[in-house]
This record gives sequence, C-alpha cells and structure tokens, in this order.
Amino acid sequence: MNILLIGSGGREHALAWKMAQSPRCTALWASPGNPGIAEVIAAHDGQGGCVPLTLTDHAAVIAFCADHAIALVVVGPEAPLVDGLGDSLRAVGIAVFGPGKDAAQLEGSKGFTKDMCTRAGIPTAGYVRARSAAEAHAALAGFALPVVIKADGLAAGKGVVIAQTAEEAAATIDDMFAGAFGGAGAEVVIEEFLEGEEVSLFAITDGNAIALFGSAQDHKRVGEGDTGPNTGGMGAYSPAPVLTAELEARAMAEIIAPTVKAMADAGMPYSGVLFAGLMLTANGPKLIEYNCRFGDPECQVLMMRLESDLVDLLDACARGELARAAAPSLSAANAMTVVVAARGYPATPASGGAIANLPAAEAHGAKVFHAGTAATDEGALVAKGGRVLNVTATGASLQEARDRAYAALAEIRFDDGFWRGDIGWRELARQAG
Ligand code: AMP
Ligand code: GLY
Repeated sequence: MNILLIGSGGREHALAWKMAQSPRCTALWASPGNPGIAEVIAAHDGQGGCVPLTLTDHAAVIAFCADHAIALVVVGPEAPLVDGLGDSLRAVGIAVFGPGKDAAQLEGSKGFTKDMCTRAGIPTAGYVRARSAAEAHAALAGFALPVVIKADGLAAGKGVVIAQTAEEAAATIDDMFAGAFGGAGAEVVIEEFLEGEEVSLFAITDGNAIALFGSAQDHKRVGEGDTGPNTGGMGAYSPAPVLTAELEARAMAEIIAPTVKAMADAGMPYSGVLFAGLMLTANGPKLIEYNCRFGDPECQVLMMRLESDLVDLLDACARGELARAAAPSLSAANAMTVVVAARGYPATPASGGAIANLPAAEAHGAKVFHAGTAATDEGALVAKGGRVLNVTATGASLQEARDRAYAALAEIRFDDGFWRGDIGWRELARQAG
C-alpha cells in the first residue's frame, strides 16, 4: 500500500525506517520529512519522497492522497491531530493512524484528561481546573507545597511549573493568565505533587482492542544529572525495568483500559497510540499525562526493539481491526538513544552547523536517526533545529546498548553539537547495585 507519513523528526525517521521494512509498504511519502527519511525512501526502491504539504490545509493533504493513491496516513506529531487532520482524512475514506480532534484532547487539554480520569476512576493527582486567575488563586489554598501548575493547552512541553513556594505558585498563575503560554494558558490546572519515579508506557488501540507497545524512560532536562531547563527529551531507553511486569499489568488495567472505554463511552473513540506518562508512587502507578502520539525520542528505542510488521499494526488500528492482528512483539534487547542537540538548545539552538561521518557511526552497529537536519544544495548535511540526531543502539544489557551508542557517537563530526553523557544513569546505577 502507499503510505503518507506526517512529520519531520527523529520519531518520524524511526517510523519510516521500520515501515519501509514491511513487505506491505509500496510507496512511502513523508511530509515534510527530513534527509534521513529521504534516504530510507531512496533505499526502498525510491518509490515516494518527501513533500512539503501545508498540513493545516486539509484539502491539500486530501488532494495529495487522492493523487498518490495513499491508503494509510500515519501522523507522527500531536499538532495535526489536535487540529483535526485525522477527521478530515477519515471523512473522505482515508485510513489514518492517530486520533481525531475530539479524542486528541487527551493531549490537547489537561483539564479534559483530568475530568475523564475522575469519571473513569483512573488514579491520577488530585486537581482543580481554573478558568480565571481569581479562581486559581482561591484554589491554591487546598494544595500542599510543592504544587503543580499547568497551562491547559499545548505548550510544547513547557507549560508545567512545579512551584516550591506559595509566592512562586501565585506568580505562575498570574503569568499564565497574562499569556505566558499564549492560548494554552487561558485555563490552568492545579495539581497535587506526586512523588515517585516517572516512566512512559505505550499502547496502541483501535478504539476498542488494546495492545501493549512497551515501556521507556527519557531524560527531559538538558543537563547531566537531570539538571537545567526542560527539553523535548535528551535521550531514552527501553524497556524501563522499573516498570515491572506487575506494575505494567496494573497500569494497563487501571489506566489504559478504562481510558479507552471512557473515550468510547463519551462518543469519541480513541484510535492510535496512547503514550501514558506515569508516576510510580507508593500507592501504585498514577497517570501524569497522556500524549496522543509516540514519544520523541522514545519511539526511536521502541522501533529498534519492534519485531512485528509496523505497517500491519498501524493499519489495523486505523481500520478498527486490531483484535485480528498479532500482538506487537518487542525483542528482549535493551535499546538506548542519545540525542545530539545543537549548541544553545533549548533556548536558542545554533543553526547550520556541518555534520559528517554518520556512516562511520553506523558501522559500529548503531542507527543514527535524523531529527533536525537539512541537506544543502551541494548535498552536505547541516543542523536545522534543536535536537539534531538520535544515536541509537541495542544490546543484551542496557550497559551494552549504552556503550554502543556512545562509541558510535564518538565517530560523529558535528562541532556545533552537544549531548548528555549520562543517559540511563539512574537505571545503570540500579543495575550496578
Ligand atoms: P507534563 O507535561 O504533564 O508531563 O508535565 C511535565 C513534567 O512535570 C512531568 O514529566 C513531571 O516530571 C512533572 N509533573 C507533572 N505533573 C506532576 C505531578 N502532579 N506531580 C509531580 N510531577 C509532575
Ligand atoms: N519525549 C517526550 C515526548 O515526546 O513528549
């Protein structure tokens, strides 16, 4: 079948790489794609290509699909889903992997998700939704410190503040209602602070059937030791042993399954991938947040472990046929990805730095996914964006995966780049005892 993949990051490169391995993938198109995805397509008989569609122009995307006989659209990032691209495509009979606009509120509105948790009895932090600064200030009295304050809408991972003092909490509320996060802060959610270790759990669903897709942990802070500003993620590994089989089963039964049911009951069945951010508290797993897409860079490590035909799985979700598909099979291998970012990330990443020697890195058995790269007219590779490359490897142990990823990284020439040297440190320390 002909497939259109939406997105341009390392997540999409990993999805493209895995989909191209499927005998069912005929032409693979990506919009906008990136140079790594272009390489995948070229190696895959060159059928398809990268096309810069205007993703907010749904009619243009539909027209492209009609012209290229696209049978499946796979949406990587959240913005087009929250914007309803899935609904527009489904309305004209095109199968889409990813939820519609209503169901994508699980990521697009934190208040929506909290209310769904209340209705379905899903374990999560206690909360209050506030639609004005006055309401929010009044609600603060009901929370201990630290207290978590979140802009309701999409804020590129930046709309969450853990306030240590009442003054900081009050100032955060004022900032959010004054527009610090634009429209995302027109409503805020105030939450109880949960203690524990965070882990990510992935499940795919067609709105009814559900299949476990594995666990991962990422490192959100830019600096070693998990310090400094938040980023989209500086590295990740899968599986996350801290999520034991028992905890994973609890999270599936107490969080994922009731969510899928609650969404169906509400008349907005969720299809696609559910990416649950969980806190492993003393009282069991609690939901921190949902994302309506694969994590980036968590997707990269999941794809390294996936043994199943990815096209089969995504297509089965898109067509409501997941019950008939074989469950996703993930290898027992450990996978790690290290993000190479451009100097200045996350505030002001340097653009245009030359990148070389990726084949030497891959000769170490690693896979280098492109995140923010561009090809110059002369065919050279340069940085374009904050997170630039994802150097990814597997191993029989996490330590082995780590050593392979960092050995590969040492080959890469990218003077403007930096990375964290301690990805996986918490888990590696635990394993070292
Ligand atoms: P979110 O965007 O909702 O994932 O929040 C970003 C980060 O803030 C999470 O990854 C957690 O580290 C932290 N966080 C969010 N909510 C809570 C909470 N209720 N308790 C403790 N930490 C939280
Ligand atoms: N790496 C976290 C995310 O994709 O949201």
